[in-house]
Amino acid sequence: MAFLLGIDIGTSGTKTLLVDRRGRILASATVEYPSYAPRPAWSEQAPEDWWRAAVRSIRLALRKARVRGAQVTGLGLSGQMHGSVFLDKSGKVLRRAILWNDQRTGAECDEITAAAGGRERLIGLVSNPALTGFTAPKILWVRKHEPHIYEKAAKVLLPKDYVRHRLTGEFATEVSDASGTLLLDVRRRAWSKELLDLLEIDDALLPAVYESPEVSGRLTASAAEATGLAPGTPVVGGGGDQAAGAVGNGIVRRGVISATLGTSGVVFAHADAVQTDPEGRVHTFCHAVPGKWHVMGVVLAAGGSLQWFRNTLCQDLVAEAKKKKVDPYELITALAAKAPPGAHGLYFLPYLTGERTPHADPYARAAWIGLSNMHGRAEMARAVMEGATYAMRDCLEIIKGMGVPITEIRASGGGARSKFWRSLQADVYGQAVSTVSSQEGPAYGVALLAGVGTGVWASVPEACHATIKTVSQTRPAARNVQRYDALYPEYGQLYRSLKADFRRIAQLH
Ligand code: XUL
Repeated sequence: MAFLLGIDIGTSGTKTLLVDRRGRILASATVEYPSYAPRPAWSEQAPEDWWRAAVRSIRLALRKARVRGAQVTGLGLSGQMHGSVFLDKSGKVLRRAILWNDQRTGAECDEITAAAGGRERLIGLVSNPALTGFTAPKILWVRKHEPHIYEKAAKVLLPKDYVRHRLTGEFATEVSDASGTLLLDVRRRAWSKELLDLLEIDDALLPAVYESPEVSGRLTASAAEATGLAPGTPVVGGGGDQAAGAVGNGIVRRGVISATLGTSGVVFAHADAVQTDPEGRVHTFCHAVPGKWHVMGVVLAAGGSLQWFRNTLCQDLVAEAKKKKVDPYELITALAAKAPPGAHGLYFLPYLTGERTPHADPYARAAWIGLSNMHGRAEMARAVMEGATYAMRDCLEIIKGMGVPITEIRASGGGARSKFWRSLQADVYGQAVSTVSSQEGPAYGVALLAGVGTGVWASVPEACHATIKTVSQTRPAARNVQRYDALYPEYGQLYRSLKADFRRIAQLH
């Protein structure tokens, strides 16, 4: 028998999936690692931790399924996007990686926009505006604040591409993740020589770019020894976690879109041609399907808001859940379900770590608004879930406004596991949400890409068609749709009223 491996270098841990040639999952193994916040709103990780976690999770997955490493015929890599790994000319890591959710680069985003000749021209060059999470502003930040590191830098890699380098010795990336650097000409699917020149970044710093299912390198003898896999095993391009997750959910044709509620919340739509939002509120990136693109809105703290609520205000429920051996979120959503739609006039803005879509505002902050003495924890919980879901609707509305058809919404991530949150999504979106057979997201998507790159399936859509089935559909309740349609515009108005206050408060602290 021959098998495929999908490895996702996530923010909380690395997950490895072992999949057979019919797409069935034989084993899954996750190894966690820490994040570091040396200052407020900074976020870093040690690339060595990713490598160790990749090696351990590969070995664990093989052991669980009792499969020999030599039986693995292809490997795909996915990972958290936008992070920057600086390497010297011997391949040594020069500093901790700066991650996707790090907000230190506001000034560098302004510099990039100015160097490009304005926001519109920048969107013309790379299809996206400069955002603090992207990689290019991180490169400029290191050049300005840590010139001793920048001088030694020979390559800058994305997180999964660092693991690729350790596996294969190659410096390579692929179009979907490269799109999130802000240095890729997304239209032409190649580095933007023009923007690199304007920013005075040497293109030798960047790796070679492949399409996602293409073989980008093969396992070296030392990586084979470390992982237990065979030397020469092909490693395909893979994908940034969102594009890879979309493949894992079958979002590979027009009309089918996904709403993923994890720590972040992402609404992802396939596009046959490059489509940009003139205001740059959603990202326009290359898809992991060769020759295709996608648009996506990213809510920074969607599930993350509920996680924060759990950690700060629900420790008693966490303890109760432990005793009952259930997931604490089950108790929190049961509590939220006790409050009616609209939470008796209580709103929550989910901007705990600033926001990307629709506001691209690092200064925005979270808030409950409308608290009165009749509100308790049930309303607060419901408002948090409704606020995160309204933020997802913001993304949907922008994508709809761009003329992208939405015939099916596939829910995934932690939010899709909860029946209550699936219904809430259907009610707030005003459209049914479905779930699919595989809930393994990015790791599954890149296992499929590995299959396409090594001849198991002829194309990415064919791989999805052969392996992914719809398993549930949650319809909206007409009364709730009406209610949320009335409340949603108020939610949007609250940010507009507070925007200037958020900025002033940030300057005071
Ligand atoms: C996508 C994004 C996140 C990270 C971490 O643009 O920033 O989804 O990839 O998962």
